[in-house]
Amino acid sequence: MKNLFIALEGIDGSGKSTQVKLLSDNLKHIGHHIYTTCEPTNSPIGAMIRSIFKHQIEADHRTIAGLFVADRLDHILNKRNGILYQMEQGFTVISDRYLFSSYAYQGAHIPLEWVIAANSLSAEIIQPDLTIFIDISPEISMQRLNKGRDSLELYETLENLKNVQEKYYEAFDILKEKQKVFIVDGNRTSGFIAEDIWKEVERLINPKLPQ
Ligand code: TMP
Repeated sequence: MKNLFIALEGIDGSGKSTQVKLLSDNLKHIGHHIYTTCEPTNSPIGAMIRSIFKHQIEADHRTIAGLFVADRLDHILNKRNGILYQMEQGFTVISDRYLFSSYAYQGAHIPLEWVIAANSLSAEIIQPDLTIFIDISPEISMQRLNKGRDSLELYETLENLKNVQEKYYEAFDILKEKQKVFIVDGNRTSGFIAEDIWKEVERLINPKLPQ
């Protein structure tokens, strides 16, 4: 059985973590060994990024973009728990956010071409077999974020999330020949979303299934 690398993407509040869990369960059920991971990572670089998001440290958008480049390279290459290492051990890796988050979130503030170029080394080393984009309206996303939190992080405003959503689509278009992306309607209950995701992953595992 071939192990896979799958990334989940979406604006804040899109329900990615629920879908990571449901997809892991489905894949485990058919015998995959699963390693779930996320970006920003839990490394010191990821911790620095989270401090910026919580407004504890201030940094320019270009600096943040650079930190994400470094965090991603460590995420891929770390000898103890990196994605390449986990793949070599036979795990199917599911990452909550990957390259497209940088294209969309940093691309909302600095030129997208620059962000794509800055991440090109990561993209050359390993790209997901499939990127799943949970598409929800920024208004619904903001409602969910406002309900669940006392204070909002750096990028969590309606205007920014609308820009981020647009940048996701721009990046999908620019990279459509290079990266396989499945877009799922996220404005529904988690069960329906999980069902659509699972059908797509089944098609990835068995391309002979009807497309
Ligand atoms: P999350 O914990 O909901 O995934 O939030 C992480 C935040 O980090 C989210 O606002 C998106 C942001 N982010 C970027 O701006 N660029 C990136 O490359 C990644 C991976 C995340």
